[in-house]
Formats: sequence, structure tokens, C-alpha cells
Amino acid sequence: MHIILIGFMGAGKTTVGKELAEKLGFPFYDTDQLIEAQMEMSVSNIFSKFGEDKFRSLETEILKGSWTQEENWVLSVGGGLPMKAENQALLKQIGIVVYLRVKTDTVLLRLKGDTTRPLLKGDNAREKADSLLEYRGPFYEAGAELVVDADEKGVEEICEEIIARTASCSK
Ligand code: S3P
Repeated sequence: MHIILIGFMGAGKTTVGKELAEKLGFPFYDTDQLIEAQMEMSVSNIFSKFGEDKFRSLETEILKGSWTQEENWVLSVGGGLPMKAENQALLKQIGIVVYLRVKTDTVLLRLKGDTTRPLLKGDNAREKADSLLEYRGPFYEAGAELVVDADEKGVEEICEEIIARTASCSK
């Protein structure tokens, strides 16, 4: 079984993904971490040194890696990855896509003091998050087979919901 978590920055994809993978006894992958390992550089540095376009190409490349052929895994993907039609199609091909949906308030609360997200850096984080989230929401919804509202739920509860709702899926 292959479970893919998509959603906005701060939705909890990595935290939930790790816990879910542990519960299921599957390996856990995260596109940001795979890219950082491949480039030996942080996401922030890739953005500032090579630009966002390069980072977006690396995301597509990662989704074509041989690890995707393994029997089971849980994958969490960067918040911007599903914006590209090619990536959305690849995700649906390789796994069950679950959208962890959160509101701006939750994003800002979770990312308070965070300096690792280049797209929310600087002033007006609320305005930036609001408009990005509004723009991206329909893409996430179109790209997902399941939507899980994650604002007021703990990690355990979210994992149980994903396990229950993916139990009958075959990808
Ligand atoms: C991004 C989200 C980040 C990371 C990069 C760009 C985005 O990942 O890929 O900073 O465009 O939303 P997370 O969603 O894990 O924060």
C-alpha cells in the first residue's frame, strides 16, 4: 500500500506521515528530505541559490525515483508539489492521495517562529498564507482521493482516520 499526504505548509504532513508509517510498519519518505539529501543542501538554500523553478524540477524528478516501486510506503510531499499537473498525475498513479486540510490560523500557529519556509518568510505571513491557501485549495482537492480535516485533531486521531479510510483502497 502507498499513502501520499498532500496539503499546505504546516498541515502536519511530515509529523502525521512519520507516525502513520510507524503504525503501519512501512518506510516513510518525504520529498523535501529526499531533495535535501540528494542536493546536500537545505530547501531554503536551494531556493536562494538555484531558484524556485529548479526546486520544482527536483520535486518532479524525485517522484520518478526507484523507491516508488517498493511494496509499501508512506510519502509526504512539499506543499507546492501538487500545483503542477504532471506531479498531480504522477501522485495519483503511484498511491492513494490524502489531503490534510487546514485553515490559515492553524498554519500560522504551527509555523510560528519557523524560518525554513521561503514562501512565508518576511512580513505579512498571514496575507501570504491566506492568498496561497486560497489559490492552492482547489488544486489539493482535485488531486486527492480523500480529504481529512486536520485543524482540531491530534496526530493519533488523524492517523486512525487515514488507516480506516484507506483500508479498502488497493493502490
Ligand atoms: C513549499 C512547501 C515546503 C517546501 C518548500 C515549498 C510550498 O514543504 O517544499 O518550502 O511551496 O508550499 P512543506 O509543505 O513540507 O512545508
